Amino acid sequence: MSKNKKEDTLKKLEKSFDVTAAGMRRIARDFHSEMERGLAGKKSSLKMIPTYVRRPTGAEKGTYIALDLGGTNFRVLQVELKGGGRSAVVRAEKFALRKAHIATTAGALFGFIARSIKDFMAGARLGAGKRAHLGFTFSFPVKQAAVDSGILIRWTKAFRAKGAEGRDVVALLDDALGREGVTALTVSALLNDTVGTLVAKAYEDRRCDVGVILGTGTNACYYEPSRDGMVINIEWGNFNKLKLTPYDRALDKASGNPGQQILEKMVSGMYLGELARLVCADLVKKKALFAGRPAPVFGRAYAFGTEQMSRIAADRSKGLSGTAAVLKELGVRKAAPEDMALMKKVCDMISTRAARVSATALAAVLTRTDPAMSRAHTAAIDGSLFEKYPRFSAKMKDALRELFGQKARRVTMALTKDGSGKGAAIVAAVAAASR
Ligand code: GLC
Repeated sequence: MSKNKKEDTLKKLEKSFDVTAAGMRRIARDFHSEMERGLAGKKSSLKMIPTYVRRPTGAEKGTYIALDLGGTNFRVLQVELKGGGRSAVVRAEKFALRKAHIATTAGALFGFIARSIKDFMAGARLGAGKRAHLGFTFSFPVKQAAVDSGILIRWTKAFRAKGAEGRDVVALLDDALGREGVTALTVSALLNDTVGTLVAKAYEDRRCDVGVILGTGTNACYYEPSRDGMVINIEWGNFNKLKLTPYDRALDKASGNPGQQILEKMVSGMYLGELARLVCADLVKKKALFAGRPAPVFGRAYAFGTEQMSRIAADRSKGLSGTAAVLKELGVRKAAPEDMALMKKVCDMISTRAARVSATALAAVLTRTDPAMSRAHTAAIDGSLFEKYPRFSAKMKDALRELFGQKARRVTMALTKDGSGKGAAIVAAVAAASR
């Protein structure tokens, strides 16, 4: 491809991924109306799920067990709430989730979970004969009628276990625990990971009013004044008033849940690498990359991960040796400097769009409760994308500045690790006290 034509191709590509300031304002407007429709029970891409969770006082105390299901690992934690806004994770164990667990049956998945809990409890010194309360962080859309039960609406991310959708996941967990002979636990609370993250931070920071996950999936929750301050799980990953590129359409079409989780597919860690792969494959086809020599990695779905993008983005060496190393791992032996520079650009375009779309969604949530941005807000944020992707949070901050000007200073984005553990303990404590 000639140099001119290549520049032209690249310009078009950049334009299709660009989110302008006007574009962000439009997204925020649509986000507000979808929030309102969702709250009013009208058809909307935002489910706006009531969670029956309210603001913690900071005085909650005691030892609790927390489960965290929804990402790459399943975790069991023992958490101690000390009151005064202080808490500690006393013990934590990670269990790797395999395809056999997440993509077969509910029985297999919950059986694995119950066995992992049994192993964990064998090492938990809770005092003989004592019952422990458990908070279950379950990071999927769930329809709740109370804090301690909820029906799985549908799986998202890579989860597919059959026989769980439409069922109460607390009942599934209780049954599995019963089958394993674990009887000393009461499942007191079921919550989304965004809720855990929000509550964990709100326990120590009164200004915290939004919880966000930017990881394998993406979502947020907040305290809704018109519902007496109840936390609403937005399920923002499903927002769909967004301008899509042909790559987004191809990714969606080939996914396990076409037509759903459109924002999530543009933003979250599970998908960014795949988007980059699709763009690169197209550039190879157009002979704008690797002189048109097909590299096998670009022909295999999900062969290029967000983690690799992240390493390419972090490479600031002059000769792009870090990028060359990533490519080598992926089986691309010879990459010209301009190929590597182009790949870096592709990663940048995709992650910048993700950061700007998520910052816009965050801005829309903040202005729902504080339209003039007259107060200080803390957004509790967790997830590998926010924590680890180079300059992701800085790009979000830039976008907030474009939207809010000086008032962007009123927004603190606080990395909140272990929210799904500590938050689960806090919600379980509140629920157990009101039993
Ligand atoms: C997906 C789930 C949502 C969760 C998010 C982050 O979007 O549907 O419930 O909060 O991933 O884990």
